[in-house]
Amino acid sequence: MKIRSPIVSVLGHVDHGKTTLLDYIRGSTIADKEAGGITQHIGATEIPNDTIDEICGSFISALTIKDLIPGLFFIDTPGHAAFTSLRKRGGALADLAVLIVDVNDGFKPQTFEALNILKMYKTPFIVVANKIDMIFGWETHEGFSFKESFNQQAQSVKQALDTKVYEIVGTLHKEGFQSERFDRISDFASQISIIPISARSGEGIIEVLAMLLGLAQEYLTEQLEINEDAPAKGTVLEIKEETGLGLTVDSIIYDGVLRTNDEIALMTSNNEVLTTKIRSILRPLPLEEMRDSKKKFKKFDEVVAAAGIKIAAPNLDDVVSGSPLRVLNDEEDVEEEILKEIEDITINTDDEGILVKADTLGSLEAIVQLLKELDIPIREADIGDVNRRDIINSSIALNENEAHGAIIAFNVGVHQNSEEDLNNSDVMLFKGDVIYQIIEDYEEWIKQREE
Ligand code: GTP
Ligand code: NA
Ligand code: MG
Repeated sequence: MKIRSPIVSVLGHVDHGKTTLLDYIRGSTIADKEAGGITQHIGATEIPNDTIDEICGSFISALTIKDLIPGLFFIDTPGHAAFTSLRKRGGALADLAVLIVDVNDGFKPQTFEALNILKMYKTPFIVVANKIDMIFGWETHEGFSFKESFNQQAQSVKQALDTKVYEIVGTLHKEGFQSERFDRISDFASQISIIPISARSGEGIIEVLAMLLGLAQEYLTEQLEINEDAPAKGTVLEIKEETGLGLTVDSIIYDGVLRTNDEIALMTSNNEVLTTKIRSILRPLPLEEMRDSKKKFKKFDEVVAAAGIKIAAPNLDDVVSGSPLRVLNDEEDVEEEILKEIEDITINTDDEGILVKADTLGSLEAIVQLLKELDIPIREADIGDVNRRDIINSSIALNENEAHGAIIAFNVGVHQNSEEDLNNSDVMLFKGDVIYQIIEDYEEWIKQREE
């Protein structure tokens, strides 16, 4: 048994500072050559405990059970597909999350979207109120802890920040969460910590790292136990074409070991299981090596969880984002297990109801789950664009019950040849790239019909 690093996803609205936060953490440690080596993964960065220790100093020594957790494994989520693909069977891929909010901008559609998904998966999270350096009158103290920097601000600036933090507290309260600025929290199990930071100047980042490590050590050690010799389990984030490699899948391995030549099973957008043999396992070259090399990736014979890797293998064309990744082995019927997992999402639906279409397995799972919580019946849930058959089936459903003549479509389009069919039918299409917004629009329509 081994304890792996907790997977921490960084979520938030566009431009609220996710990447800048991770850049700061990477930069400040890469610059310091004495600090332990940061590992660059695909879509992820692993920061070892030693390094966190050095950045945080006395903040960490206050924690009692240190050294149990090897480090923090951060996932940046650049876009929708990657964000909603952070799933595994029965829950979230991430053990912890950082919800980042621009303190001057407040909650935005994507912030609510992230919050809804964290709620649905019951993922523990902290809120980071970013860009405090933009508060009028703020005096920047590069790399300081929040507490140290805050203490040196003018009274009016302290008040301005407090007001903004309490706006976040108010918004979270409406969404069903109790929260407080982290240094005023009395019970970490029931209150969400809000940590004001500047991802640009580094103020408050010490507290972010210390808090994440503290929460992991306090609440997560059991779920972080893995078997280093077990066949790997992972999740596909994205499918990408790479020069010289062809199609590759970027994925996060959260359990076990993965080796070159392993046979793996993945899911396709047609709900079928695909098996293939790993040709190579790749990770980005460390930054300093990347500068004097034409290559972008380094090959590995094996990786142990947690790891973010690119896999080159034949036949990856139809793999869907959010797909499970499992190594075939003698003990388990992996293909059967993957099929069951898909059925949990797509086939366990109602006899009557609406139709749901989405771009990835993760987004489909999220919508189905959220609709079920609202008792909205789903007739069928599927990946891909809205097509002719969908419109015909929805027209039939509409004839039996008008409320069921609706299609919820997330991040997908309507097939070119089907636009006309749609226009000629009475089927209602609710389409967009913010899940909760589409669902709200649908509920609004239902309400209006009933009036
Ligand atoms: P997407 O990946 O596009 O969703 O955005 P993101 O959340 O990764 O935001 P990103 O880190 O790219 O930051 C967006 C802009 O905000 C950049 O110009 C950053 O330099 C700026 N920014 C981020 N954090 C801070 C901060 O703490 N203070 C200031 N002043 N600017 C910041
Ligand atoms: Na950005
Ligand atoms: Mg970014």
